[in-house]
Amino acid sequence: MSKMRSEQIESIEIDVLLEGIFRRWGYDFRNYAHASLKRRLEHRLALSKLTHISDLLPKVLHDAKFFELLLGDLSITVTEMFRDPRVYAALREHVFPVLRTYPFLKIWHAGCATGEEVYSMAILLQEEGLYGRSQIYATDYNNHSLEVARRGVYPLEDIRAYTANYNAAGGEAAFSDYYHAKYGSAKMNESLKENITFAHHNLVADGAFGEMNLILCRNVMIYFDKTLQDRVLSLFRDSLCHRGYLCLGTKETIDYSCVRDCFETVSDGDRIFRAASLVPACPTGGGV
Ligand SMILES: C[S@@+](CC[C@H](N)C(=O)[O-])C[C@H]1O[C@@H](n2cnc3c(N)ncnc32)[C@H](O)[C@@H]1O
Repeated sequence: MSKMRSEQIESIEIDVLLEGIFRRWGYDFRNYAHASLKRRLEHRLALSKLTHISDLLPKVLHDAKFFELLLGDLSITVTEMFRDPRVYAALREHVFPVLRTYPFLKIWHAGCATGEEVYSMAILLQEEGLYGRSQIYATDYNNHSLEVARRGVYPLEDIRAYTANYNAAGGEAAFSDYYHAKYGSAKMNESLKENITFAHHNLVADGAFGEMNLILCRNVMIYFDKTLQDRVLSLFRDSLCHRGYLCLGTKETIDYSCVRDCFETVSDGDRIFRAASLVPACPTGGGV
């Protein structure tokens, strides 16, 4: 009998577990990158005092509460306001001058987590005088995060860092103008919410949104394998209007993807791309 390394066995266990999750609950993690999945699964193993990843399978299949916990583990919702401030400065410099020439703007935040990125965009649009003619769609597959996002209430202790980010992003006012502090929390101004629609959307399973001028999907595809990245990038290409913009996380790129030739680079360092004007034959997605 040939010897198998423990990592190979673990990889089989992960595949079997993901298949079980998909067939039992319909959540499809089969094309998520194994490295980060493994870390999250090991975290749950340790908390549950279990040894092997395969020990999670019976619990996932038979215990809905356990599955809810695991689902929370697998969805990494780390985020912040004006994360990577220079990206927001770049949007102001390169993208907004073009967007302001349109009568109406549609913006999609895919994988918005708890909404900090979305309120940052709303602030930016207000300062640019564009909010009144904008509609923001903010989506995630994690319903708990979406609830937090809808409330728009964040720990006051995070506000100092957010204020620094806002200033570094070229903020034009005092960040405190955009929230009310109460009992250790900061509640974002209601006016920021008026044109935001928060909705459930799973990038693995759900379809395209129509005619977006700007799509931001930051720090989400980093957890996907190449096949799923291609599928999601094709979805974004198909959801953009003519010459629409795409903004990814600073560690994400369209290089080596199936949509590379469908986009021009606006600012490589800031991962801002624009749908090319002449696209001879854009390939279809990865078929996930
Ligand atoms: C690390 S957060 C990024 C939040 C924000 N975009 C940012 O850059 O700060 C990743 C988010 O992607 C979401 N996500 C992961 N897989 C998803 C999927 N298949 N469909 C929709 N959202 C997904 C997670 O629930 C999580 O909220």
